[in-house]
Amino acid sequence: MTSDPFAMSALRPSAPVDRALPTSAEWCAYYAANASAATTIPWGCGARLTEAERRAVAASVQEFQLGERSEGQHLHAAARAYAGSTGDDAYVRAIEAFIREEQRHARYLGRFLAMEGIPLRRRSWPDDVFRFLRRGAGLETTVAVLLTAEVIAQVYYAALRGATRSPVLRALCERILRDEAAHVRFQAERLALLRAGRGRFAVRIACAGQRALFAGAAVVVWNGHRAVLRRGGFPFRRYWRQCWRQFARAAVMMDPAGSAPRSRAPVSASGTARLRARSSAAGALADGRAAGPAPGAPPCPASTRIPL
Ligand SMILES: [Fe+2]
Ligand SMILES: [Fe+2]
Repeated sequence: MTSDPFAMSALRPSAPVDRALPTSAEWCAYYAANASAATTIPWGCGARLTEAERRAVAASVQEFQLGERSEGQHLHAAARAYAGSTGDDAYVRAIEAFIREEQRHARYLGRFLAMEGIPLRRRSWPDDVFRFLRRGAGLETTVAVLLTAEVIAQVYYAALRGATRSPVLRALCERILRDEAAHVRFQAERLALLRAGRGRFAVRIACAGQRALFAGAAVVVWNGHRAVLRRGGFPFRRYWRQCWRQFARAAVMMDPAGSAPRSRAPVSASGTARLRARSSAAGALADGRAAGPAPGAPPCPASTRIPL
C-alpha cells in the first residue's frame, strides 16, 4: 500500500484484505458487544491538564465534542430510505447503534471538559459545513462525508493522546480510537456495497470526489487544530502523510471490485469477536504508538478507576 497521497494507486486498490463483508445484523451484534465492553476511564485522577496543555487542546476538544454529538437525523433518514428499497432493515438498527456510539464519544468528551471547567461549544463553522453537506443527500453521499470525518479522526485522536499527560484524556482517546477504526470499516464497506455493480469509471469518479473532499477537510482540520497536532507529534508533513495513509486503507475497503457480501448471514459470535479484535488493533496502532499512560505521568490509584 502506498503512502504517497498523490498516487492514483491509492484509489485503485488491487489486493483487498478480507472481502467477506459482515452483514448489517453482524454489525448490530458488534455494536451491542462493543457498548457493553469493559472500559474504565480513570475519572478519579481529576483535572490534570497543565496550562500549556489547556491552551493547546481546550478549543480543539470543544469542537470535536460538538461534532461527536450529532443526532444523525439525516443519516437515519437516508438509512431508512435505503432499507425501504433493499429490505436490509438491520442496517437501520446498525446505524442507530453507530449514532449511539458517536454520542457516547460526545458524553466522554463532555464529561472531560466539565471536569476541566471548560464549557461546551454550541456551534462552529466547520461543523455547520459538515452538516450542510449531508443535508438532503442520499445514503452514499452521507456515508462518504461521514467517512471523511472518521478517517481524519483517527489521526486527530492519536495526536490528542500524545498532546497531553492527562490520564483521563489519554484513556478517552484510546477508547475512541478503537471505536473509530471500526467506524471506518463500517462506513467504507457500505460504500463498497452501494457501488457494487457500477462500472470502474463511475467508481473512480466517485473516489476522486471523495479524495477532493478529504483533501479540503484535512486542510481545514490542520488549520483549526494544528496546536494539538503539533504538540501530539504531528507536524504538518507527518499529519498529511498519516491522513492519506489512513485514507488509502479506507479506499481498499470501499472498493467494490473485490466485495463479495454474504447475504443475511445470522449474527455470529465469532464474527463479532473478529470485528472487535480488528478495530482494537487498528485503533491502538493508529499512529504507530503504544497505548497506555504517558511516560512519566503520575499514576492513578486503581481504586479511582471507575467505569464510565
Ligand atoms: Fe466518534
Ligand atoms: Fe466515528
